Amino acid sequence: MNAHTQRVDYSTLIREDAPEGFLVHSRLYLDEAIFEDEIERIYHRGWVYVGHESELPKVGDYRLRLIGRQPVIMVRGEDQRIRLLLNRCTHRGNTICQRERGNTKFFRCAYHGWVFDNTGALREATHVSGWGDRPPGEAQHLFEVPRMGVHRGFIFASLVSDGVSFEDYLGNAAAYLSRYCDLAPGGEIDLSAGRHGITVDANWKMQLENLTDAYHAEYVHASALAQFASLSATDKKAAFTDRGDLENPLAMQRDLGGGHSVLDSFTSNRAQGDKLRFTGSTGTLLPEVIEGVAQRIGSHEKAQWLARGGPCHIMVFPNLMLLWDAVRVIQPVAHSVTHIYYHPALLKGASEAVNIARIRAQEGGFGPAGFLAPDDMEMFERSQAGMAVRPDTWLELNRGRHIERIEDDDFGQPVRTCQNLDEVAQRGIWRHYKTVMTAE
Ligand code: FES
Ligand SMILES: [Fe+2]
Repeated sequence: MNAHTQRVDYSTLIREDAPEGFLVHSRLYLDEAIFEDEIERIYHRGWVYVGHESELPKVGDYRLRLIGRQPVIMVRGEDQRIRLLLNRCTHRGNTICQRERGNTKFFRCAYHGWVFDNTGALREATHVSGWGDRPPGEAQHLFEVPRMGVHRGFIFASLVSDGVSFEDYLGNAAAYLSRYCDLAPGGEIDLSAGRHGITVDANWKMQLENLTDAYHAEYVHASALAQFASLSATDKKAAFTDRGDLENPLAMQRDLGGGHSVLDSFTSNRAQGDKLRFTGSTGTLLPEVIEGVAQRIGSHEKAQWLARGGPCHIMVFPNLMLLWDAVRVIQPVAHSVTHIYYHPALLKGASEAVNIARIRAQEGGFGPAGFLAPDDMEMFERSQAGMAVRPDTWLELNRGRHIERIEDDDFGQPVRTCQNLDEVAQRGIWRHYKTVMTAE
């Protein structure tokens, strides 16, 4: 931490019990020194989502990723194991891989020609006779990220070897990631279709706050909701442009702890039988998909129950989000710049027709000309610009604060809960943020 960031007192910038309620200062979105502090404390010391096993189906497949600012190669080695190797030559520090994705047996450093295999082992150092009694050897294998955790194919990592365990980090969010995967006949999702990226000129934390914010939907996404309703609702009066649907008392917003949050629509979806609307998921209610799930879990009744509950919008702090048919991953770049990646979330074991329909649905919502994501991006950039107006001041997160309560979720986990349109999830993000940013 540099001298400047040492002066930041986060407890004065996040006020949970001010006379005006729950307040967050706009400086938290605007300050470059705070951003550097976040990268260090949240991304370099905590757990971060890196990628998915399905992105590396074959031996030698690799993807370049960043953990905070640290470049890593996520690669499936010849022993089938997936590793996260630091993209840094052990000779004099050159990055050894430049291509974002590919398949290789070896990585060859362009500077002095050292060659590493896809397990990270140094296989050949050039001109070895000149090293005296200290020839390059095992000590020069590529460094592996010290901790990696995998949950239903989702790969997370921590750049430090001690601290919170992977299980404790995922906490209550693990059950929601699993439930999303349970909708697939194969019990996993598949991100092998690739991803597209967007750069947005706004602070990364806006993405987190937005994922479980149902409040904005009927305004920012009015055109999309009207379009979806006209395509999908058999009962037009019950379409989700109807404000009553967003205020559905069965639809919950939950702070899962650890900064994670969810728009829990299981109960409200089940109440609609086979007519998922607002939080629907392409193909999961088709008989062929339900039958595939039933075969895997051994119960048609349970498979139908799962399908009727549908997926939820799940935000896993600090950078993974699952929504409808897509996985969204964010990469903070600067205090006012964020890279966002969208992957279509295919259902492992589903037919090609179902998964192609999911790709089309993902493009329709989140593609460059999609109905949803471009609207949100515009809002983030406007918020970033608006917050910069002087004097910078406080933001209020008070919606539903008077009814916030601890309640069991669908998995029997006691979590802070409000109604769909409230701001308990956003308060939860900031509570966790304050804990991390003020820790010794
Ligand atoms: S820096 Fe890689 S071989 Fe010298
Ligand atoms: Fe949105």
